Amino acid sequence: MAGGVFGVDVKMLESDHAGFSKIADYLRRESGINLTLSAKNQTLLASRLSKIMPGLGMQTYAELHLALLSGRRDIRDIFISAITTNTTHFFRERQHFDILRKLLAELQIKPEKKKTRELRVWCAACSSGEEAYSLAMTIRSVIQPADNWTIKILATDIDTEIMKKAARGVYPLESIDSVPENMRSAYFERGRGDSSDFVRVRHSLRELITFAPFNLMSPSYPFQFKFDFIFCRNVMIYFDKPEIQQTIRKMETCLRPGGHLFLGHSETIVGATPGLKSCAAAVYERISTLRKGEAA
Ligand SMILES: C[S@@+](CC[C@H](N)C(=O)[O-])C[C@H]1O[C@@H](n2cnc3c(N)ncnc32)[C@H](O)[C@@H]1O
Repeated sequence: MAGGVFGVDVKMLESDHAGFSKIADYLRRESGINLTLSAKNQTLLASRLSKIMPGLGMQTYAELHLALLSGRRDIRDIFISAITTNTTHFFRERQHFDILRKLLAELQIKPEKKKTRELRVWCAACSSGEEAYSLAMTIRSVIQPADNWTIKILATDIDTEIMKKAARGVYPLESIDSVPENMRSAYFERGRGDSSDFVRVRHSLRELITFAPFNLMSPSYPFQFKFDFIFCRNVMIYFDKPEIQQTIRKMETCLRPGGHLFLGHSETIVGATPGLKSCAAAVYERISTLRKGEAA
């Protein structure tokens, strides 16, 4: 494929416009990501496609579209991985972690009948894992192992490639600059020799997290348990209003009453969501009780 503006083959974009639109529609149906609304987003999509098509041996968008429709999982995964924006870092939008710490401290002093207490957290678009590990560090800054809580963090993303990186937990040394100093040595070990520019998240933190693929466009969110906290940040910026509303509605049913949903700071809830009450910037509490038929 010939290069052009930003690596985009402009001639191909013009001549195979129908194929391009079909791919954009497929992307929207499959992931909720809409990259059709501005010329800038279309260029972004074309530029990302131009990076994978030669490797897949495909010359035209129409060809790629057919391959995606054929249901080949490997091609779908390469496609999704190439298109998604995975930008993230440790303790991104730090105020949310301060709020989480306060809410955890409140939970901790609440009387409980059971001997072992449970905390369930869902990091719903975890990208390369920094957000999930930041959640684990924040939880551990309030709830110590000796407190005897069962802590389970589920970290999911649609992009199976980026999740391999998340599960490995290996990052460039400078990426932990945004981690509070006292947590750096407690939760990261530095590589030796050729790996000395990298750190690995320690087992004590990794063991709190389960990484699994999950598409927020799934018609239902079939989790066995309710979550105390859901972080779903900086993913719905690419969704249209109906998809945002459906996602929020499904998230609400995954929270236990009194549980909290954290969105990205540039994301707000659109439309009526009577079951959620805003309690801080981009933080919502489930105020609805369990509905008939909703598992506890
Ligand atoms: C910009 S990153 C945000 C990462 C992290 N939540 C944060 O705020 O730093 C957006 C992530 O959303 C994921 N994503 C996009 N569409 C998704 C979908 N339909 N279901 C699940 N994850 C999705 C992408 O793969 C990407 O890793």
